[in-house]
Amino acid sequence: MLSYRHGFHAGNFADVHKHCVLVEVLDYLKRKAKPLSYIDTHAGGGSYDLASDFAQKKREYDGGIGRLWADDGGPLARYLACVRSFNPDAELTHYPGSPALARMLLGDDDRLILFERHRNESLALRAWAEGDRRVTVREEDGFTGCIGLLPPPSRRGLLLMDPAYELKSDDDDVVRTLAACHRRFGTGVYLLWYPVVDRSRTEAMLAALVATGIRRIDRYELGVAPDGEGFGMTASGLLVINPPFTLRSTMEQVLPWLAQRLGREGQGWSRCETLVSE
Ligand SMILES: C[S@@+](CC[C@H](N)C(=O)[O-])C[C@H]1O[C@@H](n2cnc3c(N)ncnc32)[C@H](O)[C@@H]1O
Repeated sequence: MLSYRHGFHAGNFADVHKHCVLVEVLDYLKRKAKPLSYIDTHAGGGSYDLASDFAQKKREYDGGIGRLWADDGGPLARYLACVRSFNPDAELTHYPGSPALARMLLGDDDRLILFERHRNESLALRAWAEGDRRVTVREEDGFTGCIGLLPPPSRRGLLLMDPAYELKSDDDDVVRTLAACHRRFGTGVYLLWYPVVDRSRTEAMLAALVATGIRRIDRYELGVAPDGEGFGMTASGLLVINPPFTLRSTMEQVLPWLAQRLGREGQGWSRCETLVSE
């Protein structure tokens, strides 16, 4: 039984971190005019109303997009412009999920395959995607479902894996699935999001991924407080397999800027590093 609902967390600091990297990678891949497949293994509801009971419960977006809303965006201007386009009245009322950002940035010849196992979320996703022939919604397990889609017909693809880490088995599934995907499509770009709640658990999962032998992996983390158990999620992490070559220098500008604005009581920090080289 899945209880996680992304609506509680939409627009929080981890969403900002994940989505600014997603926008950067999609922009880069769209520089080439060849069709692209975007696969979201854990898609969520698509787009979120910040006035909903979910979002209002803890108002997590206040500590994320809310803190940036009045800013000119500095090195994050492009991401902020994307989020603003979902809020045409200048007031922050809606936050786009990863499917909404991808759908906005992709072209007519691209396709989006969205996995979402939770019934209500997948229904919301279907309603949101209705009429867009580029989008396929699959209400099934994204870990097993994505493997057979690779390599994509155009041999150009971006896969976002953004599990809720609700189940202990998610860590093993992440490693097993990315290894299988990479064996079938070694040149694809893969984004894996992970939370830092318990640093030793995080590092164990990353070590298992490195042990698969996959090369060219970058790691980008945004912390709002120092690591420490019992404080909930203190940092948001992203692994990028086959990162665009511009990503590292962009993130070296973006993440310190974000850490300064989103850190709790001045405790923000960031990390950009190569986890596995060529
Ligand atoms: C963190 S949220 C996704 C957020 C979304 N990617 C975004 O950035 O807007 C994770 C989602 O995965 C769904 N989920 C959990 N296990 C799944 C599985 N095995 N396959 C597909 N979806 C799953 C949950 O219902 C939840 O909606």
